[in-house]
Amino acid sequence: MKQKISPIDKEQVMRENDFIVSKTDEKGRLTYCNQIFIEFSGFSEQQLLAQQHNIVRHPDMPRSVFNLLWQTIKSGNEFFGYVKNISKDGSFYWVLANVTPSYSTGAGADAGKIIGYFSVRRKPNPEKIKLIEPIYQDMLAAENRAGTRDAITAGTRVLTDIIEPTGKDYREYILSL
Ligand SMILES: Cc1cc2nc3c(=O)[nH]c(=O)nc-3n(C[C@H](O)[C@H](O)[C@H](O)COP(=O)(O)O)c2cc1C
Repeated sequence: MKQKISPIDKEQVMRENDFIVSKTDEKGRLTYCNQIFIEFSGFSEQQLLAQQHNIVRHPDMPRSVFNLLWQTIKSGNEFFGYVKNISKDGSFYWVLANVTPSYSTGAGADAGKIIGYFSVRRKPNPEKIKLIEPIYQDMLAAENRAGTRDAITAGTRVLTDIIEPTGKDYREYILSL
């Protein structure tokens, strides 16, 4: 069971050469995390493995971002996004995440199928966090106003209304911020 962590206003900042790496099964349960993941999350490897990846989900993150993440990776594509994560002690850390499907290399029925996902996260540019943070706040507010059933549509619309006039798609927009 996921324990509810109360967020505190304390930031942990990634170092220039840090990579936070994790792997999950096809349902998003952790099957691997590197030492830097363990350090930033504040959990032990034993506490992390087999848990859902939402163990580091921060309440400031809009649901519609994760909806987009899952839609993208389930359809076989890679996802890029700025993510605010929570640590065991309630502090937060921003990452630039790249999430990709992991394909079976075996023969037989599973050949070429998605058997899980990987994510590698690096230190985001703080100037870009300043741009994305208010967008996420607007998305979250729209989700809360819309209520559970319509939250994803409402949050996604806020993002689409920002991106569409630029003529870019989500990925181009995020990487060009
Ligand atoms: C490989 C992979 C990496 C992920 N990394 C994160 C992450 O760093 N932070 C996070 O909050 N969710 C991450 N997620 C998404 C979570 O699975 C989950 O959808 C999200 O935390 C929202 O939680 P909820 O569905 O319970 O609302 C990742 C998913 C996958 C497949």
